[in-house]
Amino acid sequence: MSADYLDLPQLLAARGTVRLPGSKSISNRVLLLAALAAGETEVRDLLLSDDTAHMLAALRTLGVGVEQVADKAFRVVGVAGVFPLREADLFLGNAGTAFRPLTAVLALTGGDYRLSGVARMHERPIADLVDGLRQLGADISYLGQEGFPPLAIRPPMPGVVEGDGLGENKVVRAIRVITLRGDVSSQFLTGILMALPLLGSETTVEVVGELISRPYVELTLATMALFGVQVVREGWRRFTVPADSAYRSPGVVYVEGDASSASYFLALGAIGGGPLRVEGVGRDSIQGDVRFADALAQMGAKITSGANWIEASAPGGTRLQGLQIDCNHIPDAAMTLATTALFAEGPTVLRNIASWRVKETDRIAAMATELRKLGAIVDEGDDFIAVAPPASGASLHPAAIDTYDDHRMAMCFSLAALATPLRINDPQTVAKTFPDYFERFAEVTEPVPVVAIDGTSASGKGTIASRVAAALGWHYLDSGALYRLTALAARRAGVGWDDEARVAAIAGDLAVDFAGSAITLSGEEVGDAIRSEEISAGASRVAALPAVRDALLFRQRAFRRPPGLVADGRDMASVVFPDSASKVFLTASVEVRAKRRHKQLIDKGNAASIAALSLDLRERDERDSQRSVAPLQQSADAHLLDTTNLTIETAVAQVLDWVHKVPQKG
Ligand code: DC
Repeated sequence: MSADYLDLPQLLAARGTVRLPGSKSISNRVLLLAALAAGETEVRDLLLSDDTAHMLAALRTLGVGVEQVADKAFRVVGVAGVFPLREADLFLGNAGTAFRPLTAVLALTGGDYRLSGVARMHERPIADLVDGLRQLGADISYLGQEGFPPLAIRPPMPGVVEGDGLGENKVVRAIRVITLRGDVSSQFLTGILMALPLLGSETTVEVVGELISRPYVELTLATMALFGVQVVREGWRRFTVPADSAYRSPGVVYVEGDASSASYFLALGAIGGGPLRVEGVGRDSIQGDVRFADALAQMGAKITSGANWIEASAPGGTRLQGLQIDCNHIPDAAMTLATTALFAEGPTVLRNIASWRVKETDRIAAMATELRKLGAIVDEGDDFIAVAPPASGASLHPAAIDTYDDHRMAMCFSLAALATPLRINDPQTVAKTFPDYFERFAEVTEPVPVVAIDGTSASGKGTIASRVAAALGWHYLDSGALYRLTALAARRAGVGWDDEARVAAIAGDLAVDFAGSAITLSGEEVGDAIRSEEISAGASRVAALPAVRDALLFRQRAFRRPPGLVADGRDMASVVFPDSASKVFLTASVEVRAKRRHKQLIDKGNAASIAALSLDLRERDERDSQRSVAPLQQSADAHLLDTTNLTIETAVAQVLDWVHKVPQKG
């Protein structure tokens, strides 16, 4: 995906099956423990994404043998606790699941390392982890702002640390109990626990303050157990890694599907009808975010599950209901509840989500800002967000959603497409955990259908398209009118038709309303004014400007509302609605078109000459088909309809026949 936005059409329904990508949290834990273990591990179903790429690259930089052996399978040659490279610079992007545990492991193994990430990573606090590690003798310093990455790690300070006789790289601090704050990120505890077996001696971590995101700590303990280390715990307060713990490869490890990624599809099923099934996680999952399905069930969704799958459908006969919920146990999947709330009756209140503020972005602020763009009613505080759909049954309105370099923002907001067409800015941010998210999304969703009718001037497009729309009971978009309105508005503002930047600004701000067949511009009826020969010529000029076409693109797509849209123009099939399943290209001889236009003008009491009109049509055809952007062309997948010898009724019947023959999805 190279575009810096993705326009999602409004959706009618969602159903189908999605095979989930591997869990990010499990993938990065397993990779690190496989690297630290004795023996070789084959990791299967690994997530291939930005965050795991950072972990893989870091391990290779540290000298670990990592080899891809199949599509999603890697062989990791364990180093038995001692990285071959004792000095390295590691760049870890915005991958918290790589940065925190690597910090802990490198600080306790001894060596000279520098760890850095993207700008946002340098705004995410890490002081609690560093404070915990310093109690074990680690030598860590902040290279930028105190308390935040980037970090420099040096071998533990002499005198504070003693060797245990097992090797110069082993570090043991006399103090066996350390304290660690657990209320900012559970990844600090995860990082330290994963590093402690490298010490060889018994060490206890006492958690100070409320431990958040507990299921992720469970995941850590389960993964450590898989590699042969049993942590002894007293509730959520004390965790002890016994003496002589050491990681051993279990041989082959399968990574579960990502439960957080599952949340988007389960919500789609609950909102869009379903059934929508995710495969790769199920009832027996070790990931906390599978509990998201329980929250959906509390909202009224129908949920069923098996050992390795979960399925969601909409409640029968009623709407989803708003929910009040403490989200400590599902911090990531809880974000999905915030956009699901757009479809629920009454407000949804998500509590205990302070950790959102230190994630990929300040997720509470980002979520509130973007939900408001759609018309939702939002209230937020330090550690909660309350979301309700627009008041008194009003519908959500189209908007361009910013994603703040946060994969989950992009994925959460895709759900809003079940209520409105929308634009997702920087959609490629999903690569952090789910590179082909939008492809999977398209496979299980049914967009509002659109009939795209393109053709030359006076080929009969407008008449045929509006009658097809009436016959189907669908909306109608006369896209040429938008170019005409732009030309008219520019003329009235005294802006030249070649002044690309200013005409584009005018196109972006058009205060236009299409009510039935009436067209108003800033409140004034302009149906006739935009059809004059002068404005026709102006429309053709402004339509050749790329910035004007860009400015009108989303506005045209926003017309695609249920139950369907018939759109006419020059680039409906090629640019505006390339996914249309019904594309028609209309043409007719210049002579016949000139006669039709002549009759229209004479009927309105205007003088006209057929010869002059023919010449004008030829010139306009030439300009519309030769321009560099979105030229008038028949798409390869469009039906050609030559109306030279057809009545309007016959042409309409032919188009309807093509529309009805389109196979239905799902
Ligand atoms: O269809 P029409 O004659 O009302 O279109 C007016 C002008 O706008 C015409 O010169 C072509 C241009 N146009 C376009 O470039 N792309 C469209 N989708 C529709 C119209």
